[in-house]
Amino acid sequence: MFSSSQSKKSDDILLKCEDVSHSFEYPLFSNVNLSLSPKESIAVLGISGSGKSSLLHILSTLLKPNSGKIYINSKDIYSLSDSKLLKLRREDIGIIFQAHYLFNGFSAYENIELASILTKKKIDIKLLKLFDIENVLDKKVTELSGGQQQRVSIARILTKQPKIVFADEPTGNLDRQSAKNVIEAIFDYIYDKNAALFLVTHDEELAKKCDKIYRLKEAELIREK
Ligand SMILES: Nc1ncnc2c1ncn2[C@@H]1O[C@H](COP(=O)(O)OP(=O)(O)OP(=O)(O)O)[C@@H](O)[C@H]1O
Ligand SMILES: [Mg+2]
Repeated sequence: MFSSSQSKKSDDILLKCEDVSHSFEYPLFSNVNLSLSPKESIAVLGISGSGKSSLLHILSTLLKPNSGKIYINSKDIYSLSDSKLLKLRREDIGIIFQAHYLFNGFSAYENIELASILTKKKIDIKLLKLFDIENVLDKKVTELSGGQQQRVSIARILTKQPKIVFADEPTGNLDRQSAKNVIEAIFDYIYDKNAALFLVTHDEELAKKCDKIYRLKEAELIREK
């Protein structure tokens, strides 16, 4: 079960960014510096449109920032070849998107199985039970409720056993009990596998469970914890 003082942190850094700045029509943030070590969690709060998802996309290698450096496992991601970057994305990074991106034509189980085949990692039956999806595994994605889809997509991401979990509003579609189960499973996962969590949320209580809290406000990322 989750406890923020549960485990000793190791010194090696999984994710680090230096002076990252990005703008679309207007500046979203400038000179962002942060780091994430194994078993560590960061929450980012901020009003809608403040740039939280954009920051998550930048740190998870999906979006190139206007300036700044990003290191994952001490590697400058923009110095990697395309194939090395793809490998890093497949093996080390797990992204729980605000929209879930499951394959609609496949069943819940097949969606999870794909992650397992791709990364040669076993499906954790305990996780499927905890997420209360073991009875809907044969259903097509389109036959699942929004909350069931979200739980399947999170189970799929954790099945990959990524070193860094990026989660964008992971409990947005869930009732309180399901949200609690999912969050506990994510924290248990990062402790168990020496992984790290970068969480974007509107939920102040959920943010408090994380080791560090930042808030995006007026184009600045301010540390609050
Ligand atoms: N690809 C893009 N091209 C242009 N503008 C974009 C793009 N992606 C996001 N934006 C703009 O950047 C701003 C921040 O968007 P972002 O999705 O990062 O916000 P957010 O903090 O995650 O909001 P929410 O809490 O509603 O999810 C918004 O004004 C959005 O319209
Ligand atoms: Mg967002």
